[in-house]
Amino acid sequence: MISRMTLIDHLNWRHAVKAYDATKKVSEENIDKIVEAARLAPTSSGLQPFKTIVVRDQKIKDQLAKGALNPECMRDCSHVIIFAAWDRYTEERIDKVYDFTTDERGLPRGRFKSYTDKLKDIYLKQPAELNFAHAARQTYIALGLALAQAAELKIDTTPAEGFSNEVVDEILDLRKWGLKSVSMMYVGYADTEKDWLGTMKKVRIPKEEFVLEF
Ligand SMILES: Cc1cc2nc3c(=O)[nH]c(=O)nc-3n(C[C@H](O)[C@H](O)[C@H](O)COP(=O)(O)O)c2cc1C
Repeated sequence: MISRMTLIDHLNWRHAVKAYDATKKVSEENIDKIVEAARLAPTSSGLQPFKTIVVRDQKIKDQLAKGALNPECMRDCSHVIIFAAWDRYTEERIDKVYDFTTDERGLPRGRFKSYTDKLKDIYLKQPAELNFAHAARQTYIALGLALAQAAELKIDTTPAEGFSNEVVDEILDLRKWGLKSVSMMYVGYADTEKDWLGTMKKVRIPKEEFVLEF
């Protein structure tokens, strides 16, 4: 059956779910589609300076719940998808991405050297925290697209920043990968009895206020 729902319909359908049904699991096929939407997100200079971490292991979810604003969501959702950004930019990281890109396109390595030299000149002079902040911003585009893809699949989600970065980074040993957690999304099926937001009107500030036109 061809869905006649538009992207706007799907975005109106979704909401930040407040309670999940722990007995309902999202298929791995659908998790792959959500991750694929994140993978296809545009990023600054195409660096994709983050990893998308899929947590399905219940024991790990239970551990991650410590310090979370919605510990029940963490425990009861089917999967948690975490976005963790590079802790800094390095010459090697930039070159790796651009070497891969030129190889994939059948171009000689170094084809974009004048551009990558500019990137290195800007980023490598900056403190690591500023690099991380830039990388972290890229993750939100992926988060948004992943939320939209889940909505199209009629899978419930909650975007979340309400968690302990220390706990997440420690449990997943992210420092080892040169990563720091930024944001996450709970993925699953709502417990419609307990999900108090599910029956409430979606509220957004009116367009006239939201948009400035010149
Ligand atoms: C970056 C980000 C972080 C958020 N963090 C949390 C969170 O930690 N816990 C939570 O319950 N909701 C969280 N939310 C959900 C927002 O409160 C919610 O998206 C917003 O109120 C709009 O409601 P809607 O998503 O239901 O349309 C977050 C949303 C975003 C985009």
